[in-house]
Amino acid sequence: MIDVLLGLQWGDEGKGKIVDFLAPRYQVVARFQGGPNAGHTLEFDGLKHVLHQIPSGVFRPHTKNIIGNGVVLDPIVFRKEAESVIDKFGVDLHKNLYISKRAQLIMPTHRLLDAAYEQAKGENKIGSTLKGIGPTYSDKIARQGLRVGDVLSANFRDKYRRLVDRHLVILKQHNFIYFDLVALEKDFFDAVDYLKSYQLVESEYLINASLQNKETILAEGAQGSLLDVDFGSYPFVTSSTTMTSGACTGLGVAPRHIGEVYGIFKAYCTRVGSGPFPTELKEEIGDRLRRVGNEYGSTTGRPRRCGWLDLPALRYAVMLNGVTQLLMMKADVLNDFDEIKVCTHYRLPDGTETDQLPYDLCDVKVEPVYKTFSGWRTSLSRVHSFDDIPAPLASYVAFIEEATGLPITLISTGPDRVATLVRETAMSK
Ligand code: GDP
Ligand code: IMO
Ligand code: MG
Repeated sequence: MIDVLLGLQWGDEGKGKIVDFLAPRYQVVARFQGGPNAGHTLEFDGLKHVLHQIPSGVFRPHTKNIIGNGVVLDPIVFRKEAESVIDKFGVDLHKNLYISKRAQLIMPTHRLLDAAYEQAKGENKIGSTLKGIGPTYSDKIARQGLRVGDVLSANFRDKYRRLVDRHLVILKQHNFIYFDLVALEKDFFDAVDYLKSYQLVESEYLINASLQNKETILAEGAQGSLLDVDFGSYPFVTSSTTMTSGACTGLGVAPRHIGEVYGIFKAYCTRVGSGPFPTELKEEIGDRLRRVGNEYGSTTGRPRRCGWLDLPALRYAVMLNGVTQLLMMKADVLNDFDEIKVCTHYRLPDGTETDQLPYDLCDVKVEPVYKTFSGWRTSLSRVHSFDDIPAPLASYVAFIEEATGLPITLISTGPDRVATLVRETAMSK
């Protein structure tokens, strides 16, 4: 079976930390979508590291890591992060990383197009990470993208040139002309040569052989369900399927092989970039969550918008992903709060209440209806067992379990690997 771990909010839920934590239980860890827009932070042995495209199982020596076909891969970013993982941690990346030949390549002009499109949108900009994600997925769907496997073919430069010429026309139309293409291309082709030193494979065969051999596999999601291209707050979304179904298409595994679906969420909410965020707190409490939670983007450094937990949105994500267990992150950030609120419903402009996520959330202003909980007002750093959590936190957990119909099997109490409380009896592995 293949288990899937994905973010149920707007990304940055702590996926990297938990994939790294769970990796010893798995023989394979695989990324299935997104690209360098992701920033997955791991902390262990006093070290902190942010991964963008390399799966978060990479620091566990017995784990095979796969970058799947659903990913968009930037060779320049890849080179930088691969060299850092090798130099800083001595990871044998050439041995334990496999890259799908079907993954799409992000070209320098994809990044420029991302910037040009955002500039053209003006006030309505998405707040993209500007890593070229949207333009690369657009070329994939338009059936004109470059794939990782293309770097091995003799006519790679011709294919590249044909696509670049199209991009340059569009950039000119957008009056986006100030860049040094020669320098960008030098970096790109150097990085492509570096990429060729890795195991570029038909990863769908690799992963299905692992399934056949009864190996344990964990699929690592990027972004979050509310950024999904179909079900997120469109158009303020990313360009991939961030849901469980994305693991099937992004790795080449059939739905019947999906096992556990770990849904990961923060004990509150954050969002980076533009778009609706019903429970956003703009003043004091929002600032406090940002400060205590250190809520600044792992990829772009931008301050994250912060707010209370949004249950209608969480339940929506649970429903669409077929989540089987919930993992609650950053509980420690709420340690000193007297009161903690949870949005249970939205009040619509006509005064009615709903617990469903309106499809036109971008246009309809909904007002959150809150239930208030008392805080636990104590540090969680001395709690070493799930059974010993303070009573107010246990009530908070029980309420979320009741509202979602799912068990919370893990509570994270700090950024380090070790600050993790697991309810082993409820977690199957
Ligand atoms: P990801 O994109 O889902 O992997 O999450 P990010 O790495 O972008 O953001 C999560 C941030 O929260 C990182 O800085 C983590 O080190 C940090 N973090 C993860 N779990 C916890 C936790 O339980 N408590 C605290 N205080 N920080 C955490
Ligand atoms: P991880 O995997 C948080 C957001 C961007 C922007 C929108 C579109 O670390 O959770 P894109 O660059 O994809 O065109 O940006 O999506 N976004 C993320 N927000 N975490 C991420 O990844 C994100 N990846 C993209 O801020 O609003
Ligand atoms: Mg992140």
